[in-house]
Amino acid sequence: MWGRTPIGGPFDLIDQTGRRRTDADFRGKLVLLYFGYTYCPDVCPTDLMAIAAAVHQLGPAGEEVQPLFITLDPERDTVEQLAGYVSAFHPRLIGLTGAPERIREVALAYKVYYAKVPAPDGTDYAIDHTGFIYLVGRDGKYLGFFPPNTPPDRLIEMVRRHLQSSAAPGTAPSSGR
Ligand code: NI
Repeated sequence: MWGRTPIGGPFDLIDQTGRRRTDADFRGKLVLLYFGYTYCPDVCPTDLMAIAAAVHQLGPAGEEVQPLFITLDPERDTVEQLAGYVSAFHPRLIGLTGAPERIREVALAYKVYYAKVPAPDGTDYAIDHTGFIYLVGRDGKYLGFFPPNTPPDRLIEMVRRHLQSSAAPGTAPSSGR
């Protein structure tokens, strides 16, 4: 599960406030990254609740953790749609959308599988997708992933371990951003 396969990579997307965000914006923080879509009936909400609970329960240490949600359904998950969605989970959860090609690039980088599944009556669709929670280090490098339905306690345990083993950014200047 915590293997050495090269996973992860840069992204250039738009957050739920309409602001451009790249992976470089989150250097210095541990990132809990999740791919899904806001119309997801069960898996996404469950995992996002676990992420939110973990960040909350980490207390002050949680400030060093950035939860990110990248939509796999940019067609419906507009900036406005994301804004209403992410705030329901955690005040610091950032939702990211963008051009379908940009979404595809980052999904491929993280080896996320996703596919549109039309409803039988053709009026609607679901997105079939993998539901892993990725942990990304302060340097932007992939550290590992958690399977779907990982309980908050497990997330907290791993995050704590990585917070301790990686040097805090301290007072090092982070100019240029
Ligand atoms: Ni989902």
